[in-house]
Amino acid sequence: MQNIQLSDGRAIPQIGFGTAAIGEMHQDDGFVKETILKAIDAGYRHIDTAAFYGNERSVGKAIAESGMARDQFFITTKVWDTQQGYQPTLRAMEQSLERLQMDYADLYLVHWPYPEKTRPTWQAMEKLHAEGLAKSLGLSNFRKQDIQQLMDFAEIKPVYNQLELHPYLTQKQLVEYCESKGIVVSCWSPLGTGSWSGVEKSEKPIADSVITALAEKYQVSAGQIILKWDVEQGRIAIPKSESDENIAANLALDGFSLTDEELTQIDQLNQDKRYGGDPDNAWQDNLNSPVPE
Ligand SMILES: NC(=O)c1ccc[n+]([C@@H]2O[C@H](COP(=O)([O-])OP(=O)(O)OC[C@H]3O[C@@H](n4cnc5c(N)ncnc54)[C@H](OP(=O)(O)O)[C@@H]3O)[C@@H](O)[C@H]2O)c1
Repeated sequence: MQNIQLSDGRAIPQIGFGTAAIGEMHQDDGFVKETILKAIDAGYRHIDTAAFYGNERSVGKAIAESGMARDQFFITTKVWDTQQGYQPTLRAMEQSLERLQMDYADLYLVHWPYPEKTRPTWQAMEKLHAEGLAKSLGLSNFRKQDIQQLMDFAEIKPVYNQLELHPYLTQKQLVEYCESKGIVVSCWSPLGTGSWSGVEKSEKPIADSVITALAEKYQVSAGQIILKWDVEQGRIAIPKSESDENIAANLALDGFSLTDEELTQIDQLNQDKRYGGDPDNAWQDNLNSPVPE
């Protein structure tokens, strides 16, 4: 899978492996480690985790057991809402690196906007960056107003914003705004969520007739059509899978391309439909859910 360049000059593989809720949410055991090892064997080098996923130990064990050098990987983790603020963020990173058994994260994200904490959280992240513990700094679920707030004081500009983004939630204006600020957009739940959401497959964009018709045309899977739609437009995507077949397919996006008309046809499936939390209020609920031990 090809890399793209972040505005700080660092390279990131355009397809990453999502790790939320491998097995169950917060599961952190041999199954999680083996699933990540399968993904590494299939060729993934970019792994997306978070303190809140409760699985950083398994991610770290998989990287260690892969036998490959740490610098072959691009590892993202995130500070959770309950740990936002200056000192708590410094501590959160210390705990993440301890669980990951790593000296640094390639990318450290603010998991959700929590406006009254954004400034001290980001300033702690800038310190972590200066110390080499976070090689790149970014955001997750940040709305335009959250980015504007941050840009007023940030000495280090964010290079990445991870958003819920799939054909039923294209977030066109926010994507354009991020791109205008040199912020690469990364798509979470790119296929329309995992089992954690309880949404039936038939209701997800992966089952949409426009997507399945394109899959038939190009003799690929529906998942590959959606991921290609992201990749061709310069976005990162982080699909999660536990099946050998899907793990491999989600990386195998060469050999076909979508036309401009087809990209537009997929864009037009937008319904502004969220399967996950809404950044307008998610932090309030998130404060009731601490990071698992
Ligand atoms: N920043 C945030 O707030 C946030 C929130 C949620 C998620 N995320 C990140 O985004 C990642 C992905 O999100 P997600 O797991 O919700 O959704 P997703 O990757 O869009 O979908 C995962 C689901 O799709 C299935 N699947 C995977 N590849 C497929 C394919 N080629 N064809 C058909 N089905 C396929 C998986 O089943 P199988 O396992 O059977 O393949 C699983 O049920 C997470 O793991 C996490 O890293 C971030």
